[in-house]
Order: sequence, then structure tokens, then C-alpha cells
Amino acid sequence: MSHAPARPLTSARATGPLHGTVAVPGDKSISHRALMFGALAVGETRITGLLTGEDVLRTAAAMRALGAEVTHDPDGTWRVAGRGIGGLTEPEDVLDMGNSGTAARLLCGILSTHPLFAVMTGDGSLRRRPMKRVTDPLTATGAVFMAREGGRLPLAVQGARDALPLEYRVPVPSAQVKSALLLAGLNAPGITRVEEPEATRDHSENMLRHFGASVRVDVAGAGRIIELQGQPELRAADVAVPGDPSSAAFPLVAALLVPGSQVTLPGVGLNPLRTGLFLTLNEMGAQVAIRNQRTEGGEPVGDLVVTGGPLKAVDVPGARAPSMIDEYPILAAAAACATGTTRLFGLKELRVKESDRLSATAALLSVNGVKVDIEGDDMIIHGTGAPPPGGGLVATHMDHRIAMSALVLGLATRDPVRVDDGAFIDTSFPGFVSLMNAAGAAISADA
Ligand code: S3P
Repeated sequence: MSHAPARPLTSARATGPLHGTVAVPGDKSISHRALMFGALAVGETRITGLLTGEDVLRTAAAMRALGAEVTHDPDGTWRVAGRGIGGLTEPEDVLDMGNSGTAARLLCGILSTHPLFAVMTGDGSLRRRPMKRVTDPLTATGAVFMAREGGRLPLAVQGARDALPLEYRVPVPSAQVKSALLLAGLNAPGITRVEEPEATRDHSENMLRHFGASVRVDVAGAGRIIELQGQPELRAADVAVPGDPSSAAFPLVAALLVPGSQVTLPGVGLNPLRTGLFLTLNEMGAQVAIRNQRTEGGEPVGDLVVTGGPLKAVDVPGARAPSMIDEYPILAAAAACATGTTRLFGLKELRVKESDRLSATAALLSVNGVKVDIEGDDMIIHGTGAPPPGGGLVATHMDHRIAMSALVLGLATRDPVRVDDGAFIDTSFPGFVSLMNAAGAAISADA
């Protein structure tokens, strides 16, 4: 599989404060789900604010390949003409999920209870990531999966004809695994029951209800038990996708790190299972005000107003990880500029993201002169409060969040920070470089 040529980028220390309004793109998790639920519903689902990053475009293409009609209007509204539960048709060719673990894993759930044959692949990063965490439990529906060694992509699936409902305790906190099982349960009779050890993002549960399914959620200690009544008729519903808090994290931290900055981030999703970073930054002394809080499309949303200023070190407990799992690389960049020693606990799941993010984040810092240790699954970052030296070339390992975190760090370091490849930023945050530069950053393509 080929992908675009590497796009090296350099980020230089900001010469003045960042300012203005940065409109971050739509939430990636909600965008994937809106397309998938739309394809499984009866009628036409209209989606506004959909993220048009490459990950989500892969999901749109997969839904088309499975028989749903997915189009978009010139004003940016997307329309999905759904096939109804059980109504998807066999794809003619291999489904290529690109860089997206969410797309691949959630699709495994859908395919497992449709009686059709499909083959799925992805890019070099996705082909390295574990899929057994979904294919093992999904096998109990009656589906048959065949995959490469270690359960990795490419994989083939023959979906179950008379699927059985699942009852499963997810061993790791993973919204992707939970969601895959719930999606499978849509086309199985009776109740699908999923227990998660720690609460993870609940966009699937919210959207299932929004489309008319019956979902019951009980709190069980730190976790939750979710019960879905199978074979509902999903009715098409309009979805307004909020701004992605995981994307907002980059301009937000950038504004914090450049003294005197003031930046507004309108319409950012504030689902409490996604806001661990905001809580952590608050503990570090960051000034982030939430204005105009409201509910849009069943999700809490607000405008963030960020004022730059000094940060102090913090300890982040492992129990907070599910609510900020994608934000550790950018938090690490913030911690590198803070005063004192920051300890981030319980980061095991970071090893199976788009890259091994635990190692990639530590390398990002150390190559730029920041002292950092990994002890087991914990990361310890030694900040001095002074701008880190910078001057490093960061290996991004096909990981959009490593690239963006390094470029934000470069706004605060003494010498510029380079990344070997910024091309993958387009998977989740198209337009990142121009938005940041419009706010006062100095990120440039290497000549
Ligand atoms: C996601 C869940 C998380 C997150 C990913 C999106 C989702 O993955 O890292 O970016 O949309 O369900 P895990 O479920 O693997 O933790």
C-alpha cells in the first residue's frame, strides 16, 4: 500500500502572542459513528460538522462499499441513505481503513453480524495494531475471522447468518472494543451485554439512543454495564458533530505555552468522558475559561477561551487515562515547559495507538533536550520552567498526534523543532498548519 510522500515540517519559536479564533474540526469519534449508524438506519441521516479528515473519509468509503449511499452537499452537509440493520451488502473489493483503528475495529463489529464476506486492510501503522481485542469476542456471534499472525490486518471475515448476542467483560478500557460489540449486537436477537472496567467515551451509547435504540447503562464501580436490546429499527436522525476536544488540545496548549496569548476555540465537545486534559491543565494552573455551555446533538459543547501563562507540574492518576487517552503526547509537551516534575501514571494503552506513543512521546521530548524517564507504564517529565532547548528532529511514526505535539512544542523551545513527516496530520486535523499560522504560529514546510 502506498501513501503520500513524507512531508517534513519545522516549527519555530513564536515571536509574539497567539491570538484570534481557531475553529477546530469535527469530533473524529462522533464522525465515524454518525456515518456508521446512518448506514444502519432506515431513511436519510444528515450530518453537519463532520470531520473530513482521512480517517473519517475511509469510513465513508467503507459504508459506500457496503451499499449505503453517502454524499455531501456544497454547504458541507453530509447525507447517508441507510440500508437498515442487516441490510448491508457484500463489498466487491478489499476495505482499506487507512490509518484508522476506530474505523477498522468498529467495522469488525458491524461485519460480524452481517452474513457477508469482507476483507479489510490498512496502512503500515494500522497493520501493526492489535485486532484480536475485537475479533476474539466477536467470534462468539458466530462470525469467522481469519487474520495475520497476532490477529493483525489484513483480515477476512465471514459474518454470522443467525448471529448470537454477546455477553462480554472488556479486559482493557477501550471505547473501540465496547462500540464494536454494541454494533454487532444491533443485528443479533436479545440483549447484548458489555461490561467495561473503567468508563470510556460513551458516544456510541448516546448515538444509539439518538437513532431510537434501547440502551441501558448501569454504573458498576469505576466501570459500566451497557445492555442493548438487539434488532431495533434504527431511524435516520440528524447529527451535529461538535468540535473535537482531542484536536482542540493542540491550539489550546500552544496558546498556554506562548506568553500573552489569548485564543478562543468555539464549539468544542465537552463530554465528561473526554475532558481529562482540561481538568489536568487546570490543576497545572492553566487559564481556560468555558463560555456559552450548551447541548448540541445530545453532547455538551462550549467555547474555550485560553490565556497563556506559566504552568506547574502535576501528578496524573492512571484512573484519568480513559478520559484523556489521546491527549498524553500534547500534555507531555506542556509538562516539558512547566516548572517541576510531572508524573503520568498507567499509560499501557498508549503502546497500541497509531504508534507506540509511550516511546514516541518520550523520544519527542528527549530529542529536544527535555529530561524524561519511562518507568514501567508511567512517564516522568522533568520541567524547569525555562524554554526547553529544542533543535531536535522528531520521528512521527505515522502518528498525527506525535507530529502535532512536536510542532506545538516548537513554538516554545529555544531552537526550532522539526518533524520527519507531517502528512498524517490530515487523518484527524486537516488545515492544522494554516490554522495555527493564522493564529500566529510559525510552522513551515521544509524547502
Ligand atoms: C476511540 C477510542 C480510543 C481513542 C481513539 C478513538 C473511539 O481508542 O484512542 O482515538 O472513537 O472509540 P481505544 O478504544 O483503543 O482506547
